[in-house]
Amino acid sequence: MTKVLHLNSADPEPAAIREGASVIRRGGLVAFPTETVYGLGADVLDAAAVQRVFTAKGRPATNPLIVHVATVDEAKRLAAGWPNDADRLANKFWPGPLTLVLEKSNRVPGIVTAGGNTVAIRMPAHPVAIALVRESGRPLAAPSANASNTVSPTSAEHVTKTLAGRIDLVLDGGPCPGGVESTVFDLTTQPPRILRPGPVTAEQLKAIVGDLSVERVALDADEILPSPGTSERHYAPHATVEAYGSLERLERRFQQLLQNEIRTGVLLRASRTYLFKSLAPVEPPRNAVLSSISDNPAEYAMRLYAALHELDDLNVEYILIDVPPSADEWDAVRDRLRRAASVWEES
Ligand code: TXA
Ligand code: MG
Repeated sequence: MTKVLHLNSADPEPAAIREGASVIRRGGLVAFPTETVYGLGADVLDAAAVQRVFTAKGRPATNPLIVHVATVDEAKRLAAGWPNDADRLANKFWPGPLTLVLEKSNRVPGIVTAGGNTVAIRMPAHPVAIALVRESGRPLAAPSANASNTVSPTSAEHVTKTLAGRIDLVLDGGPCPGGVESTVFDLTTQPPRILRPGPVTAEQLKAIVGDLSVERVALDADEILPSPGTSERHYAPHATVEAYGSLERLERRFQQLLQNEIRTGVLLRASRTYLFKSLAPVEPPRNAVLSSISDNPAEYAMRLYAALHELDDLNVEYILIDVPPSADEWDAVRDRLRRAASVWEES
């Protein structure tokens, strides 16, 4: 049985946090909100508990986990060294959605890092996440709280959709304010490289570290491979996602799918929903679901996974999306869409 505890996200009830921490200390699994997506936490120092995380998610043992800390000192104990860049980045962006990859110390069990000698660390900004890590008295290994190869969870309901019965507790703090996973930034290479674009953008990182590279290998949030390029299954909805820069192209595809009686969802930025008039002059045709999302990159990010979950729940077979602009503030969203999409046409 998976228990769900509701709590106040801004000022979490101490009793709920204590209950979560006691589950963690017994080696159990607790899902909790972060400012990005819900995480599935286990005591990082308890290899058996960490193994349960992999089992619950159906996650390949080759995909390492992010460790969540409440203090910079805790991060330093998990890493073998603490380079100047780490110090400056932590000062600037922690607590917040930036994950740093560093050489690992002996304290971190090999299962957490998938046998590798680097460890990914971040200090979350969400009051519930911070309180849980503090009260547990140890760092938490926490991937996103969803079964592997499904859309990441931005609400407690999304968590129970794929993990009910497989984990001990969900701390329900409502929807996550950020909506896409943290930026993963590898400081073990020269220059450092972005492994996963996220809320902290390339330009913001450049301002601190100078030179950096952006890794173009298909790093999947749930399926990352230490040996890049071997697999490219994306964390995607059940539906087939297709992304088009050209609305004419999207419209033709929509008509074609409906002619074939295929249930189709369309997810457009609000400024482009004038197309809805042409797609559905009166009311949405049979087999069509039309929905819109913000033109603002931060609001788009916050809503994206929920929109995909909703369309999946409506059993559409296809989801057609318009491609957002190629710009720094859209990088994280474009990255997630691109991973989810089987067709990607810029224009
Ligand atoms: O915002 C987030 O990062 C959320 C919340 C819960 O903190 N967590 C998250 O975890 O997205 P997960 O497991 O879904 O994604 C972690 C990513 C994966 O792409 C994984 O391969 C990568 O971080 N990663 C973890 N450790 C790594 C390491 N030592 N070197 C390179 N990549 C690593
Ligand atoms: Mg994930």
